[in-house]
Amino acid sequence: MFDWFNSEEKEFVDVGILDNFYQTSSFYPMPVVLCTTVSENGLTNIGSYSLCFPFGISKDHYMMLISRSSSNTARNIKARKTIALNFIPYDKEYLKNAVELGYPGETTEEKLAESIFTLVPSEREEEGKKDGLVYPEVIKESVQVFECTVDESDVFHYDGPKIEAHFLLKIDKIIMQKRYAEYLKEGEGFPTLPVDFGYRDSKQFWFSKHSHPYAEPIPKSKGVSTDAVRYQVERMEGAIKWHPDSYKKLVKVPRIFLKMVIGKINEAAASESIDLVTPEFLDKVNAKR
Ligand SMILES: Cc1cc2nc3c(=O)[nH]c(=O)nc-3n(C[C@H](O)[C@H](O)[C@H](O)COP(=O)(O)O)c2cc1C
Repeated sequence: MFDWFNSEEKEFVDVGILDNFYQTSSFYPMPVVLCTTVSENGLTNIGSYSLCFPFGISKDHYMMLISRSSSNTARNIKARKTIALNFIPYDKEYLKNAVELGYPGETTEEKLAESIFTLVPSEREEEGKKDGLVYPEVIKESVQVFECTVDESDVFHYDGPKIEAHFLLKIDKIIMQKRYAEYLKEGEGFPTLPVDFGYRDSKQFWFSKHSHPYAEPIPKSKGVSTDAVRYQVERMEGAIKWHPDSYKKLVKVPRIFLKMVIGKINEAAASESIDLVTPEFLDKVNAKR
């Protein structure tokens, strides 16, 4: 019988590491993010980006964006410090337009003339007036938008070639279409977001639609039980106590995040001078989150 697993086709070969290795030397699934920034004349610029990933995830919340340093987006971030990351849903018309908006060398005016997206003001406009910043408009068709300001401290430093710019973006606010926010709250349901495999053959971008996500439960032996939650609660510093009925509310939290989540809940309790965490209090914290 043909032994496919040990056949020649299944052998590893060295493919070399070319520049832009993520799209030239590998298959690397990436998001499609339309970055909106404020241009010099106050108009909102739209640029297509995929190299945009979570960077700081627990105490501070950051995204990393990698751009050509001469792009409109890079220049606008440097000058005005604000950006919105608009995650558009999978739709071939939207992706066609994202490719058009991903062509280097066009001015903001030219891009706005060819964009099919609807720009609406950021709800942060009022805040902006307070702190002297201007915020870009956001794309109404988006599933979700991360509204960010650039962090220019030394949290991240990379001495790469001058043509590349790496931006550490502090997430100030995440907004989401109501129906998807419900999915998130209920713990069920997903939007259909596009996956970008990049510009592999210098002619075209390659996108795919993901299939409906399925759930793969953590084996019971590895999952968090109420005992594991209680164990962690009892090992936290401070005087906050937990009602035993509260433990089961946290059994879905992955074990690696449990300590951090309990710490945040205790902080929220302390800030409200509450010394007993009850299931009702957890519901309140969850609703705020
Ligand atoms: C789907 C897609 C993803 C892209 N991702 C990136 C990226 O991550 N970084 C980058 O520098 N350019 C990326 N590009 C190319 C930029 O969109 C292109 O440089 C464009 O001119 C940027 O627009 P701007 O100058 O208005 O910022 C991408 C293009 C497309 C179509």
